[in-house]
Amino acid sequence: MNTTNPQLNKHGELQHLLTIEGLPRDVITRILDTAAPFTELVHQEEKKLPLLRGKSVFNLFFENSTRTRTTFEIAAKRLSADVINLNINTSSTAKGETLLDTVDNLAAMQADMFVVRHASSGAPFLIAQHLAATKQDHIRVVNAGDGRHAHPTQGLLDMYTIRHYKKDFTKLTVAIVGDILHSRVARSQIHALSTLGVPEIRAIAPKTLIPTAAERMGVKVFHDMREGLKGVDVVMMLRLQNERMLGALLPSPQEYFKNYGLTPEKLALAKPDAIVMHPGPMNRGVEIDSAVADGGQAVILPQVTFGIAVRMAVMSMLAGN
Ligand code: CP
Repeated sequence: MNTTNPQLNKHGELQHLLTIEGLPRDVITRILDTAAPFTELVHQEEKKLPLLRGKSVFNLFFENSTRTRTTFEIAAKRLSADVINLNINTSSTAKGETLLDTVDNLAAMQADMFVVRHASSGAPFLIAQHLAATKQDHIRVVNAGDGRHAHPTQGLLDMYTIRHYKKDFTKLTVAIVGDILHSRVARSQIHALSTLGVPEIRAIAPKTLIPTAAERMGVKVFHDMREGLKGVDVVMMLRLQNERMLGALLPSPQEYFKNYGLTPEKLALAKPDAIVMHPGPMNRGVEIDSAVADGGQAVILPQVTFGIAVRMAVMSMLAGN
């Protein structure tokens, strides 16, 4: 493990993917470039590549997921890996087995890669550290979302989507709207956007849903959504993370929608060719109006499709290809 950046080995190659924070620009760009040809695979007769043939990828999802878990599985299968989805509810975790004991047991089954989602921030890092300490660091760890800390593959697929539609990061104004305080996605997006050279990143949220340190992350904070959306190229919406809120931080979902819900009228303040993104799951009528979610500027479903290629790229690079 590289002590300054535990995700990279001493040659600067990706060893694990735990967070976008501190990931060099050239590594992010390499992941996006590697993903590009994988998007074409679906149009070919042979949709599988042998890049992970003989490898076992374990999906360890200790929190619910639709998009991330499924697209990791598709991505690993397209790379010819064997995929094992651990059902946490029926696993020995439910009998009190610790996370690291579970990891050791799966490592003993000759795992090559763990894709980990966990409600606790830092859980994938803890696993990577444990694998290094027990001399099992040939096993790769991918963070599929940990607490409110990071969701690196979501951040990367979002960057892929922006690059696909807007080409040049250095000319963009990007707004991230909603529950930034509890959002691992927002943190990964902000780190990726700033590393890729986006000159203006705006964070639009009520005062109760923005971290006090937001401005230190290099974003411009807006509490008035209409002000914040003026002239932006990209609108990235976020879900209210009710499961992570301690107590009531908002008067009501109706009030929230009135002030921070993306409607066609508010979207009209952005550039006419602005794209609308959402990591999912969406709450229609809470943070986004159906007319926008299903409208011509939304690229929400392409984000999901690009997620397969980006996850293929990450797994392929981790496997040393
Ligand atoms: N964007 C995202 O992480 O969605 P899931 O929770 O469905 O994986």
